[in-house]
Amino acid sequence: MLNKGTETQMDLRYQTGFGSYFETEAHPGALPVGRNSPQKVPFGLYAEQLSGSAFTAPRHENRRSWLYRLRPSAGHGPYAPYAQDKLISAFDGPVTPNRLRWSPLEIPTAPTDFVDGLVTLAGNADAAPLSGIGVHVYLANASMKNRVFYDADGELLIVPQMGVLTLVTEFGVLTAGPGHIAVIPRGVRFRVEVEGPSRGYVCENYGSAFRLPELGPIGANGLANPRDFETPVAAFEDIEAPTQVIQKFQGALWAAEWDHSPLDVVAWHGNLAPYRYDLSRFNTINTVSFDHPDPSIFTVLTSPSDTPGVANCDFVIFPPRWMVAEHTFRPPWFHRNVMSEFMGLVHGAYDAKEGGFVPGGASLHNCMSDHGPDVASHRKATEAELVPHKIDGTLAFMFESRWVIRPTKFALETSALQDDYDACWSGFPKARLP
Ligand code: FE2
Repeated sequence: MLNKGTETQMDLRYQTGFGSYFETEAHPGALPVGRNSPQKVPFGLYAEQLSGSAFTAPRHENRRSWLYRLRPSAGHGPYAPYAQDKLISAFDGPVTPNRLRWSPLEIPTAPTDFVDGLVTLAGNADAAPLSGIGVHVYLANASMKNRVFYDADGELLIVPQMGVLTLVTEFGVLTAGPGHIAVIPRGVRFRVEVEGPSRGYVCENYGSAFRLPELGPIGANGLANPRDFETPVAAFEDIEAPTQVIQKFQGALWAAEWDHSPLDVVAWHGNLAPYRYDLSRFNTINTVSFDHPDPSIFTVLTSPSDTPGVANCDFVIFPPRWMVAEHTFRPPWFHRNVMSEFMGLVHGAYDAKEGGFVPGGASLHNCMSDHGPDVASHRKATEAELVPHKIDGTLAFMFESRWVIRPTKFALETSALQDDYDACWSGFPKARLP
């Protein structure tokens, strides 16, 4: 059992494998054997299936788990609107074609938990037809107390930038700090505990669940290896106290008072569960001759769309790596892209920008907008002696989507929006023909 109503104290343990079939019990004998829904579940627990895919989804895409809990989660009253107007999923305002970059948003000084600290910067498509993404930042300094959150609109890919999060979920407890990601499937209830000021990014994936990309000619190994993904073992809390359960549904938040904590799953089995991944375990692959492949070579996870090879969202990282290419402009090149690119920085510096793109900040380059190295980075890279060198101490990432990523009104009006971003591409000397 997790606790008796106080902060979580436990020895965290994980099961490994991406999309593996797990089974785990926090109390010996709690897990039924040989069937999912026996007439009498051990100890009088209640069996409940959580379906993350349609019943009839192809077997390799089918995701569901069976949960065995102290009380059926159906036992609650109605939800009422909960006011948190910075977290949205309506991206129907005017959209600018301009390149945008934000400085880090400030963490509030007033006590603010993960749910109240979510701010939407951008997004696309719509939660209703189950496609697209929402791009949020969380700015928190307090743990969630007597409240639990779940997102019916999408899966949450959390990229911590400052502070370690403890995610107490129906499936068990996992931690994630800078350098890790955590993924909470659609509908899974959880609460977030923080140790102090905490900031990070969230990709709310309305579309198909994230999965590992195909490897093609790379072969059977490389990029993110399945064994490095970690899913918690079962853990539960038995708290009979008013608990506010907040859900995000069709872009708005709703709250209901339950008379107990819903994090009361004693055992579970299945292949739908939260997981985390240490990005330093990413097997980074790149050129050993010249040029460099498209940044898709750095894809950690992908949410495919109905069109093969055209992602609803790719999660791509730019981790520490050796640069060895000969007679090559080594940083990211100038680029225009049918796909739209939202970038963030966990720590360090990004090799296409000498300044302005700082940890906790963000940039947005939408469909066909011109982007690439700034003047200083370009000059440095074109003049550098091309000896092997390591880009170290850095971790940037990208949410790349087939749909134009529309900034929110907040994102366009916040003082964190830099008004001089275009200037970083000003002053390139003109090429001179002989
Ligand atoms: Fe690009």
